[in-house]
Amino acid sequence: MSEEIEDHRLLNDSENEPFSSVLERRVSRRSIMRGGLSVAAVSMLAGFGLTGCNDDDDDNVSTSDDDRAAAMMLAFEAIAGSKTDAVVVPGSGSAQANASLAAGAAAATTGAYTAQVVMPWGTPINNSGTAWRSDLAFTPEIQANSVGMHHDGMHNFPISEDTASSNFIMALNNEYIDQGALWATQGGPSDTPRPADESRTEINAHGVTVVELRRGDNRVWDVVRSSQYNRRITSATPCDLAGPVAGSSYVVTAYDNTGMSTRGTNNNCANGYTPWGTYLTCEENWPDIFRKDSGREADDDRLGIRSGDTRYDWDTSAGDETESNGEFARFNATPSGETAADDYRNEPRTFGYIVEIDPYDATSRPVKRTALGRFRHEGCWPGKLVAGEPVVFYSGHDSRNEYIYKFVSDAKWDPADANTAGATTDRLAIGAKYMDKGTLYAAKFNADGSGEWLELEPDTIVPSSAGSAYAGMTLASALGLEAGDRAGIIINTADAADLMGATPMDRPEWGTVDPVSGEVYMTLTNNSQRTAQGTQPTYSNDGSSDDEPGVGFATAPVNAANPRADNSDGQVIRWVEPSPGETTFKWDIFVFGKVPTSEDKNLSSLSEQNFFSSCDGLWYDDRGDGNGILWIETDSGTEYTNDQVLAVVPQGLDKGNNDSVIHEGNQAQLKRFAVGPNGCEVTGIFATPDKTALFINIQHPGNWPADDGSNTPDATVAPSGTVRPRASTVVIQKADGGQIAV
Ligand code: FEO
Ligand code: CA
Ligand code: CA
Repeated sequence: MSEEIEDHRLLNDSENEPFSSVLERRVSRRSIMRGGLSVAAVSMLAGFGLTGCNDDDDDNVSTSDDDRAAAMMLAFEAIAGSKTDAVVVPGSGSAQANASLAAGAAAATTGAYTAQVVMPWGTPINNSGTAWRSDLAFTPEIQANSVGMHHDGMHNFPISEDTASSNFIMALNNEYIDQGALWATQGGPSDTPRPADESRTEINAHGVTVVELRRGDNRVWDVVRSSQYNRRITSATPCDLAGPVAGSSYVVTAYDNTGMSTRGTNNNCANGYTPWGTYLTCEENWPDIFRKDSGREADDDRLGIRSGDTRYDWDTSAGDETESNGEFARFNATPSGETAADDYRNEPRTFGYIVEIDPYDATSRPVKRTALGRFRHEGCWPGKLVAGEPVVFYSGHDSRNEYIYKFVSDAKWDPADANTAGATTDRLAIGAKYMDKGTLYAAKFNADGSGEWLELEPDTIVPSSAGSAYAGMTLASALGLEAGDRAGIIINTADAADLMGATPMDRPEWGTVDPVSGEVYMTLTNNSQRTAQGTQPTYSNDGSSDDEPGVGFATAPVNAANPRADNSDGQVIRWVEPSPGETTFKWDIFVFGKVPTSEDKNLSSLSEQNFFSSCDGLWYDDRGDGNGILWIETDSGTEYTNDQVLAVVPQGLDKGNNDSVIHEGNQAQLKRFAVGPNGCEVTGIFATPDKTALFINIQHPGNWPADDGSNTPDATVAPSGTVRPRASTVVIQKADGGQIAV
């Protein structure tokens, strides 16, 4: 550790009261106020924002509220950047950490952490699976019975409240694939036309993995292979369509002439979850798996459906004698039949959604909730939950100069719909209640720190303030749709948001919500197409205005929420609304990323202990009583460090007159907690309810993990030679079994 980090570190045991004692003190006082709720009950209610219903925290929308506990402190030493083939966590590789992994060492005080690989790509998820070995040749069947590739968003679902921190269901996105690793034993993928079984194997490596995880001896976690919950959802799994688009002419295909279903979910990036116990998986870069060489419509161009080829050439397996029901032909959306019912011209319109999955029922079908909009969804996050108020979800469109969205349910939240661990409730029926009927909005960030949610309904009037030639028309008419065509608005979500004058952002990635204050945080990862103040925007698809159907911003000048031209490092933005259903908000910038190439534009004064670039994953880790940890993950290997996980406690931080909440006067509060192996992106994050285990994902590592023949090797050990890389979940635990980071 360098002197620089030593000087700047926040940890000072003599000054920091352990968070556990702060929690104990605060909860005991307020337990009296609330008639003796247990710590677990308070913590659980806080997790869904319900504590505010019980006392004067109701309208607590400010971090400076006097009734919050004193801000908790992070009790770990920021680690240095790293460029190795190993995961690095505080104290990793120390004698204590090693002893803990080997034998469950007794409690100690040095604060060392362990990091264990769990459920890497290729781990069998049932007793039909094939054991991993480095020379395993994958088939469609082997891949369908094992963990998918390139782990991304994930979430935990308790089977029983009593065991929620040691045994739960894990739902995990498998975003995309590394063909080199998948086909390592045959020297790479075959040329086109792709052999049908290669395409099937790749299709099966995508999607979602649902497994039961259990903590065993020595706090080693592993998949429970015999679990009733385990299943794979792939880019071929039958899915239902629900909401405005379902059953419309926009989604009639040869597979389903009624437009009520489709096959598969794809490029599932970040995730979400619902208060009623379902998983949300989000379709991001799906346009790349399709081609449409003619007959293109505005939404094909606006979202970037390919022409001429597809990302993995699965369409080239069409016509194979084993092809079933157009399983490969569907990736070519070029019209070939008499009508849409005869071909797959509408297949891409069955993608681009938030998909709801009931992790408790392996026989249930995933449901695409179209009311939440159609675009390149990074993820989907529930807002502050208040009984009797709408349920809201935030979502971002991850492309340069695209928008942030909010969905507001028609139904008002009924706490009786909250998840009961392990119960056999019809969770998807509850999902239909809150997610199929509601209003979608796009965000406009004003320069004065205010903001507004712009309604996207067929009869919404295009405002003159946006300077549009369509001003005064309804959105439906401006988009050339029939009056009242809600399905058409959803199919053309991004074009609708263009017309309303939404603010083009620096690639919205993950969001997260402080369930007590309702503050929403979202990462804006970077934007190479952000231009200087005073420049004119340019438009995609040779358009002359973003108001045109099929045309969006190619480049856009800086604005208050996205103030850096050629933004290579990204920022975390934050906003808060007066109540969940409101259409106004206040916003500020929480932190600007920066790497130390120069002091230029280092607007948050980041130092060696916390510099980062391209923030991506994000999670507000509620620690109860108004306190929490904001975890930030990155996706940009730099010459200084591999991708990483940082932590900061937002409470008690004052922006003052600075450019961001993190600034020169408090930047030591933001600390690097973990660094991933060479070549990877760090993404996906949650902790067990007792906060003793933090789960992250290592996606597309170059040469990791060390292959000891198991599915649970030590993540902090670098391979001695070259290994077949495996994306994997990593569970980080304290060697003494204590709570993470405090
Ligand atoms: Fe799949 Fe936007 O990251
Ligand atoms: Ca447009
Ligand atoms: Ca991402």
